[in-house]
Amino acid sequence: MSRKIIFSGMRPTGPLHIGHLSVVQNWAARQDEYECYYAVVDWHALTTGFDDNIPLRDLVRAITLDWLSVGLDPEKCSIFVQSAVKEHAELHLLFSMFTPLSWLERIPTYKDQIQQLGWEGKDLHMYGFLGYPLLQAADILVYRAEAVPVGEDQLPHIEFCREVARRFNNLYGPVFPEPQALIGKVPLLPGTDGRKMSKSYHNAIAIAAPTAEIEAQTRRMVTDPARVRKNDPGHPEVCVAHKFHKIYSAERIEELKDDCRGGRVGCTDCKKNLAAAIDRVLAPYRERRAYWEAGGRITEVLAAGQDKARTAAAKTLEIVRAAMGL
Ligand code: TRP
Repeated sequence: MSRKIIFSGMRPTGPLHIGHLSVVQNWAARQDEYECYYAVVDWHALTTGFDDNIPLRDLVRAITLDWLSVGLDPEKCSIFVQSAVKEHAELHLLFSMFTPLSWLERIPTYKDQIQQLGWEGKDLHMYGFLGYPLLQAADILVYRAEAVPVGEDQLPHIEFCREVARRFNNLYGPVFPEPQALIGKVPLLPGTDGRKMSKSYHNAIAIAAPTAEIEAQTRRMVTDPARVRKNDPGHPEVCVAHKFHKIYSAERIEELKDDCRGGRVGCTDCKKNLAAAIDRVLAPYRERRAYWEAGGRITEVLAAGQDKARTAAAKTLEIVRAAMGL
């Protein structure tokens, strides 16, 4: 029996940080069970970054290396760049014929992002940006994927993708599955300052960070403000470091909470332990990164992935063109 198909993608916006880690780990965990397609969605990056003047090509290579270092295995899954598989664009165009504007305008991320980036001085009243979720639906459906491992923030986009699939099937016959989101178990982590983790806030720990940088960023984590002296009783539920401990020191989280509440371990030591725990997770990734960095390996991975992706996508487009009478 053929395996279930999975698709997911990420925009190449800069080095991955540990806030992204659970999503990529979730991708890697599916490699044996499913036929997986993972794409660096560079066209999606252009929908908001069309005038950023950063060579996307370099960002694409960087994120690919991040994925490989976390454990995506090109022997098991197809890793490729969206813009190298033109079928995504063709399907997006064909979908655009029967997708009501009102469906796109009511997706919550649309108005939110226009407003947010508007404050930063960017006008996003663009054709391509409105179509962002439709291009995302084409990304997924061009492989007739049944499941999409993503973070929770993507749920409205997956729901929209299902609506597009349903509409196509009603109009032209049953071609597409209605894909399900696969949400990971790990909750969203804040940045070291308690705000959203983001490279632009300088509150993120990069997946590639060397030990010294992990220590420096961990030291900056905001702890319980009521805890002035080392022996004061602490409140782990309001402490950023404890949110990380919950994931990185899961096996002894109760002990750590007790030590904090009882004023037995000070924040400085508690954060030193945390830095060591994070480093234990990231160290093997750094090792793997060194392997993939060498020679022309990234180029080879992307070329092989793109071949496999194109073959699958071309088959779908043949069916779609026939169904639409082209
Ligand atoms: N919108 C997704 C994000 O911001 C990226 C993305 C584009 C995607 N196409 C996709 C995710 C298809 C899953 C499937 O993270």
